[in-house]
Formats: sequence, C-alpha cells, structure tokens
Amino acid sequence: MSMFASLRPRALQLLADHSKTVAERLQAVCDLLQAEVPHYDWVGFYFNNGDRPELKLGPYAGAPTDHTLIPFGKGICGQVALSDRNFVVPDVKAQDNYIACSLTVKAEIVVPIFVQGKNIGQIDIDSNTPDPFTGEDERFLETINAKVAEILED
Ligand code: SME
Repeated sequence: MSMFASLRPRALQLLADHSKTVAERLQAVCDLLQAEVPHYDWVGFYFNNGDRPELKLGPYAGAPTDHTLIPFGKGICGQVALSDRNFVVPDVKAQDNYIACSLTVKAEIVVPIFVQGKNIGQIDIDSNTPDPFTGEDERFLETINAKVAEILED
C-alpha cells in the first residue's frame, strides 16, 4: 500500500475523534503528517483571521515560525488566500513573493480549505527536499481538507 493510502484513514480517523476539540484534532493531524511523511518537514494550518484580510497561524508541527499573521497577497500562503487554488512550489528560491520561514526549506505546497465554497484557510507544508510534491500530495491534502471543512461546520 502506498504511504498516502495507509495514512489517509489514520488522518481521517483523528479528525473524526469527537472526544477532542477541533484544535486538538488539527494538531494531531499535523503531528502525524510531519512524523510519517519523509518530505513533510513543517506542517501547519492557517485560517482567515475573522474579517481581516490576513491569515492567522493555527495548529502546526515543526519549528516555531515568526509568521503567525500573513496579509492576503503576501507569500505563498497569502497568494492562495486570494487565488483559491493549490500552489505547489518545487523551488522556493525561484519565487519572488515568498516568505522564508527557515533557510533549510527548499519547497512548499499550500492547499486551500473550502467551507460552503468559501476559502477559509489552508494547509501549508514546507519541505527540506527539493521538488518533492506530486499530484498524490495534492489529492491527499485535498481529502484531509475536505474532512477539516466538515468538522469546522459541525
Ligand atoms: N513560506 C510561507 C510562509 C509560511 S511558513 O512556510 C510557515 C509563505 O511564503 O507564505
């Protein structure tokens, strides 16, 4: 079984654990993905900060970051807040509009979360491996985000 095929049910089960708060469940998913996927070095959620045009850091696993608030339009995350589309960055050095969190990061993927069609946040993954992300990562993270959207609506 592929790595994502075995991780998917584990992640979905963590998200469905009603004995935990939503924040605890998101934290558990970040911890799982960061521990189990070799090319996921930092895994975190950002959410729209109320009605302000900015993202606020939620649960994450990996090194602490200074970037707890990101204005819409800034960096890879801020661009996804406006574009509503996955953003796969094989080489962060090739991006002009990029916010560096750590010098070891080589690549990044950001996948938006939609609740009732509205982009309300995203999952953000940094990798220390160059060009590691494929369509498999995108499909996997879209599945996680669909479940996150569901529990946010509960
Ligand atoms: N690199 C991101 C900022 C968030 S950190 O990766 C945790 C960006 O350019 O938006």
